[in-house]
This record gives sequence, structure tokens and C-alpha cells, in this order.
Amino acid sequence: MSNLVKISPSILSADFSKLGSEVISLEKAGADYIHIDVMDGHFVPNLTIGPEVIKNLRPLTKKIFDVHLMISPVNNFIKDFAKAGADIITFHPEATDNISNTIKLIKKENKKVGISLKPKSKIDLIKDYLSEIDLVLIMSVEPGFGGQKFMPEVLEKTKSIKEIIKSKNLKVDIEIDGGINFENCSMAKKAGANILVSGSTIFKENKGNLKKNIEILRKN
Ligand code: DX5
Ligand code: ZN
Repeated sequence: MSNLVKISPSILSADFSKLGSEVISLEKAGADYIHIDVMDGHFVPNLTIGPEVIKNLRPLTKKIFDVHLMISPVNNFIKDFAKAGADIITFHPEATDNISNTIKLIKKENKKVGISLKPKSKIDLIKDYLSEIDLVLIMSVEPGFGGQKFMPEVLEKTKSIKEIIKSKNLKVDIEIDGGINFENCSMAKKAGANILVSGSTIFKENKGNLKKNIEILRKN
């Protein structure tokens, strides 16, 4: 089993006038997952796409749709995103009044469960649920926009979560999301991330050479 990290490009930085061909290009460029940022203008001060768009993207690729729900309340939409074709459904603990119930709703749809921590959100919020989920998404920027600066203070939190997962012998992926670039990607891996999300670095560096940028993030 390759111990190379998985790369999950965020389509928030893609050209929204041609999301379909952008997703196909990402698959051709070697993306492991497709990171889809859903924002409702309420949980975060930005508005992006809903289940309809995901439903239209689904037939274009077999790649895992790593759906990051920055919406609240989140429960009402889980079924819609599951039916639209999400493979991993990640929510924020602050977006539900009952974390266990939200986990159950996602599992009922036979989807993988992720929980995301904003930079200032504490591990205590999620540590009791680690045995029930598949992925922890550690945000290294305040949620809402691509192209922000990486916040290195989340690396400590990443190491602590990695330690807890190891000590309990759990199989939980750690994904770091926000401001990942060619300089900080190795720090993110050293801290314990095995999946890296990147939007602006992948779409903008090296004149938008997706394949090259994905490879550099994976190998550095
Ligand atoms: C921010 C999103 C991130 C963002 C990553 O709220 O969750 O996934 O799109 O984009 P970059 O890599 O540009 O920070
Ligand atoms: Zn995201």
C-alpha cells in the first residue's frame, strides 16, 4: 500500500464556467480525490454549489467526491448530497446539535463520514467520535475562501489527533485543507496528514499545469 499522500484538488479554485471539463482534467492529471467545497453563505460568508451541480459532475468521473459541507444546519441536506454522488461527506461539529446523529445520517446513506475542525475549533469537540468516522479534515485557513495563507498553528493539533488515532489503533484519515503549497506540504505530511487538499496551488502554479502541481505536492 503506497504511503504517498493522497491529493484532493479543491474545485473552488477551478473555472466555474466549465466545472465538468475541469473535473475531467483533474482526473487526467492524477488527482486521487475531487474536493468539493459547499458553502451556504450562513455557516461561512460565501456561497458556492449545491447537490444539483454534484449530480451533474458525478457521471464524468469515477474519482472519489470528497464533499466538504460548510453549511448549517447540515442534517437537512445530507440525503441530497449522498444521492447526488458524494462519496465522503464531511461536516463541521458546530453545524449540528447532535454529532452522533449526523454521523448516523451519513452512514445510513452508506457514505464515508468526515468531521472538519476550523483553525480555532478544539480537538475535544470530536475526540469522542473518532472511532465512528473515516476522516478528520483539519482546516488550515478560516473556511469560506480559497487562496488564503496557511496557518501553521494547526500543525500541533494535527500531531495530537494523529497521536490519538494511533494510540487507539483507529483507521481514520487526516486531511489538511487550506493554503497548502509546495513549501508547507511536507510539514503537513510530517504532522500526520495523509490527504492534502489544494485549490489555488494546483490551479495557479506552473501556469496551471495540474499534473505537475499534483505531483510536486505528492512527492515533496
Ligand atoms: C476553504 C475550503 C478549502 C479551499 C482550499 O473554505 O474549504 O478547501 O478551497 O483552497 P486553497 O488551497 O486555495 O486554500
Ligand atoms: Zn474544503
